[in-house]
Amino acid sequence: MSGEPNLKVFDTSDQLAIAAAELFVACASESQGESNRFCVALSGGKTPKQVYELLATDDFQRRVNWSGVHLFFGDERAVPPDHPESNFKMVDAALISKVAIPGENVHRIKGELEPEAAAGQYEATLRFAFAGQPWPLFDLVFLGLGEDGHTASLFPGSEALREQVRWVAATRNPETQQERITLTLPVLNHAKHAAFLVVGRNKAQRLSGVLSDTQSHNLPAQAIRLESGKLEWLVDAGAASLL
Ligand code: 6PG
Repeated sequence: MSGEPNLKVFDTSDQLAIAAAELFVACASESQGESNRFCVALSGGKTPKQVYELLATDDFQRRVNWSGVHLFFGDERAVPPDHPESNFKMVDAALISKVAIPGENVHRIKGELEPEAAAGQYEATLRFAFAGQPWPLFDLVFLGLGEDGHTASLFPGSEALREQVRWVAATRNPETQQERITLTLPVLNHAKHAAFLVVGRNKAQRLSGVLSDTQSHNLPAQAIRLESGKLEWLVDAGAASLL
């Protein structure tokens, strides 16, 4: 990680969620001021759910022009959209079903398809949405940090982590063997703004290793080095307890 990480530590996960929701609103306002389109890739897992729920509250949702928001996903589990482990299901319940975003602006990864087919179909979706661009330029990407140092569904040592041409790859969680579909590293690194959201003492050891081991590229989270965008880390006191 070149230079000091842009790190913000929050006393509580509630405060972190508010900051992340404010970041979403600010990035949406900035990008829609320029192009009336805000393309955001959402992370899955448990941490960001509170952020999505906040964005759906009146205080936040009235500050976003949802007609110009395009929701994408950083990764998805290879399960149907109504499966309890589906990232889409989580985001739909927390946010999509509660705001006036046009259905055609929600670009879910079709986890119900065979993973390679889902990856190919999502890549086609991205190439249409970002037609004419060498890489998708997301205005904002939310990322999580796994205890093994993975982010999105880029797991340590995986083929997907080494992918430098395709925009979307099929992969597998080595611990659970669950098949996944994920944006690839070059796509994530072309984001204009990326924010890791990390909560919990259980992440403290890994976060300390990721942020302090400045020269290593080993862990997927350390390979997030934006080409020209702004990377920041929003962490709570528990996750920051070993920094
Ligand atoms: C997923 C996420 C994954 C997640 C981390 C952290 O699909 O699970 O994309 O990368 O962000 O595993 O997950 P928690 O927020 O649940 O700790």
